[in-house]
Amino acid sequence: MPVTVVIGSQWGDEGKGKVVDLLSPEVDIVARYQGGANAGHTICWDDKEFVLHLIPSGIFHDGVSCVIGNGVVIDPVALMDEIEMIRDLGYRVEGRLLISHNAHLIMPYHKRIEEARERAMDAGAIGTTGRGIGPAYVDKFARTGVRVVDLLDRDVLKEKLTRSIEEKNAVLESVYGAEKLDVDAIIDEYVEFDKLIDPFVTDTTEFLCTALSDGKRILAEGAQGSLLDIDFGTYPFVTSSHPTVGGCCTGLGIPPTHIDRTIGIVKAYSTRVGNGPFATELKDDTGEALRRVGLEFGATTGRPRRCGWLDLVALRYTTRINGFTDIAIMKLDVLSDLEEIKVCTAYEFAGKQNIRFPNDLQTLENVKPIYDTFPGWKANITGVTAMEDLPEEARSYIAMIESYLGIPARIVSTGPKRSQTILR
Ligand code: GDP
Ligand code: IMO
Ligand code: MG
Repeated sequence: MPVTVVIGSQWGDEGKGKVVDLLSPEVDIVARYQGGANAGHTICWDDKEFVLHLIPSGIFHDGVSCVIGNGVVIDPVALMDEIEMIRDLGYRVEGRLLISHNAHLIMPYHKRIEEARERAMDAGAIGTTGRGIGPAYVDKFARTGVRVVDLLDRDVLKEKLTRSIEEKNAVLESVYGAEKLDVDAIIDEYVEFDKLIDPFVTDTTEFLCTALSDGKRILAEGAQGSLLDIDFGTYPFVTSSHPTVGGCCTGLGIPPTHIDRTIGIVKAYSTRVGNGPFATELKDDTGEALRRVGLEFGATTGRPRRCGWLDLVALRYTTRINGFTDIAIMKLDVLSDLEEIKVCTAYEFAGKQNIRFPNDLQTLENVKPIYDTFPGWKANITGVTAMEDLPEEARSYIAMIESYLGIPARIVSTGPKRSQTILR
C-alpha cells in the first residue's frame, strides 16, 4: 500500500520539512492535508535554506507533484508569494502544483477577528501565529466559508464576501470595539486572484485516487503536531485542524486502507511555541542552552520556542492515536554538549505515577514529570550518517526511546541538511 504519512508527534517544528524533502525522491506526489500558513517547514541542502508555509516540501524535486488538499486553509496572498519565491529559485510550479477546489480561503477578516480575540483574551490568549487559521476553520464548519472554487466566479465571490464581511464587521465593532473592514477594497483585491490561481485548481481527490489506482506513491505531509490537534491536543491551546493521521483521510480524500506507513517526527527534546501546558519545560540555563544550540526560534513568527526535556508520556500517547509504524528522531546533535540528559517517563497526578497522558487542562497543568537521567555523550555528532559512528551513549538514547514506544527509529537526524541523516 502506497501512502506514507509524516506527522509531528509533539507541538510542531519537529523537523517535518526536512523528512518530507528527504523522502520525496521515493514518491510521485507530496500532499499537504491540513493547517495553513501557520506552518513553517524548513528545508536545507548544501548552503541553501528555505522555509515553506503552504507549498508541500516536495517542491524542490522536479519529478514530484505537489498537492494542497481540501483540508488546508489557504491564504491566497501568502500562496502567491510562495509560488513567486519558488519560481524565482528556478523551479517549475505550473503543472506540478495542484490546489483543491474545495479548500477554504483565509481572508483579511479572519486575521482581524483572530487578532481582536487574542487581544481580548489577554492572559488566556492561545498565542496563535496570527495567520487567521482558527476563524477560517470556524467559517468552514459554520458553512459560511469561501472556497478556492469561489475565486473562479467573480459574482459568487462578491456575494459571499459581502455577506461575510458585513457579518464580521458587526462582530468586530460591537464585540471587540475594533475597526471595521472595507467591503469594496477586499472585493477589489480578491477578484483579481481568479486568473492567478486558475492554472493550479483541480479536483485533487480525483487526482490522488487515480494516482493510487495507477500504482503511484504518495507522501502526506502533516503540519503542526499531534499535541496541537483540535481533538487530541492540549485543548484549548491547540490549532483548529487535525494534524493527526485521520486528518490525512479527510483532508485529502484518501481512504485509510491505503496508508501503510505513519512516521512520527520526534524532536530529541521538546519545544512549544505559544501558550499552554508543557510538563517538561525548562525555564533555566539548560532550556536556554537548548534554544541557543537548537536555534529554537519560530520559522513562521520568529518567536522564541519554549524548550524542555523529551516527554515519553506524551509521545506514547501520540504514538497510539496515530499508530506510528516508526519514528524519525530529529536534532540529536543539539544534545551533544550536555553532561546528562533527562527524559520524562511518567507523570505524577492524582496521588500516583501514571504513563497515561491526561486529557483535562487542569491535570495537565499540574502534573509532576518523573525523570530518568542518562549520561550525555559530550561529543560533536553533527553530520554523522551511520549508527556505528555515534557514541555509545547516543545509541543508548535512541534505543531507550524505541523500547519505550515499541517502534523503531528508521531515521535519525544529526543536522539540518539533507545529508546529515542516518537512514536505517
Ligand atoms: P517543521 O515545522 O516540523 O518542518 O520544523 P521547522 O522547520 O519549523 O523547525 C525545525 C528546525 O530544525 C529547522 O530550522 C531545521 O532546519 C532544523 N533541523 C531539522 N533537523 C535538524 C537536525 O537534525 N539538527 C539540527 N541542528 N537542526 C535540524
Ligand atoms: P509547523 O507545521 C509550531 C501553534 C501556535 C499556537 C497554536 C495555535 O511548522 O510545525 P494557530 O495559528 O494555528 O491558530 O496557533 O499552534 N502552532 C505551531 N507551533 N509549529 C507549527 O507548525 C505551528 N502552527 C501553529 O504557536 O500555539
Ligand atoms: Mg515549523
